[in-house]
Amino acid sequence: MRLQKPVFLIGFMGAGKSSVARRCARSAGIGSLDIDTYIERSCGKKIPAIFEEDGEETFRKMEAQTLEELASRDNPLLYSCGGGIVVTPENVKVMRDAGVVIYLEVEAEEAAARISDPSTRPLMTDLAAARERLESRLPMYEQAAHFKIDTSGKHVGAISSELIDLLKREGVLCPQ
Ligand code: S3P
Repeated sequence: MRLQKPVFLIGFMGAGKSSVARRCARSAGIGSLDIDTYIERSCGKKIPAIFEEDGEETFRKMEAQTLEELASRDNPLLYSCGGGIVVTPENVKVMRDAGVVIYLEVEAEEAAARISDPSTRPLMTDLAAARERLESRLPMYEQAAHFKIDTSGKHVGAISSELIDLLKREGVLCPQ
């Protein structure tokens, strides 16, 4: 199958964006790319090291630059975004103008339980802080999204099937 335009998966850390993008790409035979992994490869540093050595502000600039570059590519891919992509308002405009934005909803407790190694997430320190951060971002996720998928209690396969159905229904994912 092929994508008519880029698709951006957004949502809190632990929503399953990267795993769902990978699974969905495999099932539908389309390309996917994880924006955080792309940033790590481009600068040769892991996300926690970027936060520690350069600070969050520098990371947000890299994230915005990377998104802009990727969104303007000719070949549309399924992108999994970092959970904080929506805190930079220009990113929301870039994603909405270029393609389709899908919000994978998750609650803080389930998100924390899904993250096997919290040391990879500099902004996922404890549950109370995660709850607060998620709460403050909810309106940003809601406003950025064209569509949302509730992921609570669902496995990657089920979420990925829902995403594929949605993209087909909306004419974003089409036969070759
Ligand atoms: C962040 C989420 C992370 C990563 C960075 C900041 C956030 O991505 O971009 O640690 O601000 O929510 P995931 O959502 O893939 O964990």
